[in-house]
Amino acid sequence: MLFAANWKMHIGPGEARQFLDRFLALDAPRPGRTVAFFPPAVSIEAVAARLAGHDHLSVGAQDVHWEPQGAFTGAISVALARGAGAAAVLVGHSERRHVFGETDAETGRKVQAVLAGGLQAVLCVGEQLIERDEGKTRGVVERQLRAALAGVEPSADLVIAYEPVWAIGTGRNASPGDANEVHGAIREVLADLGLPRTTPVLYGGSVKPGNAAALLAESEIDGVLVGGASLDPESWAEICAAGG
Ligand code: PGA
Repeated sequence: MLFAANWKMHIGPGEARQFLDRFLALDAPRPGRTVAFFPPAVSIEAVAARLAGHDHLSVGAQDVHWEPQGAFTGAISVALARGAGAAAVLVGHSERRHVFGETDAETGRKVQAVLAGGLQAVLCVGEQLIERDEGKTRGVVERQLRAALAGVEPSADLVIAYEPVWAIGTGRNASPGDANEVHGAIREVLADLGLPRTTPVLYGGSVKPGNAAALLAESEIDGVLVGGASLDPESWAEICAAGG
């Protein structure tokens, strides 16, 4: 199982070291479980340094540009993320798509760049509330997957995160059964694209200590991607202890 913490625009390098001291005191390694932290870019190096020697813990970047270098003020490349210690990159998070206007085509370029750079791509997909209400969930998720994953090799180091936009930071989460159904649909699309059905599929959107175990009990849910509840070492350690 994969437990991924998306710290968004929170937790600088000094706070990250304090957070990890606390988290490491609370958390015990579990077989088959990986915990990944996605701090702001400025904190990647501090997190990587603090996690050195802890094989079940890793760090990644929240976003990258697809170009290897150049005049892209404010952006980081895959090589810069890797150099700071990142092993993975979130691609197409709903805030990138809906706050920063990232397109399906851009997420596709980013996935290609991340994989070509030897890092794991954690591709985020998910529908907005109006799309869910109109019964378009499956279609939206399928469109996002096809656009982002065209040409990706079956051996690619890929993780999918299903995050319904209406459930992110709102306190409303998809019911475990609803999430499980969408995860099943995601696996059908992956298979149709020639990608392994065993690709891990995470659920994200208002995951908390109180609902993590029920979500993780579903057969198609392989882990969680957590924003708000990952900002506190106690609640994050509690979530990471859920799911057996
Ligand atoms: P949330 O965010 O857990 O605060 O809903 C999840 C995410 O955006 O990845």
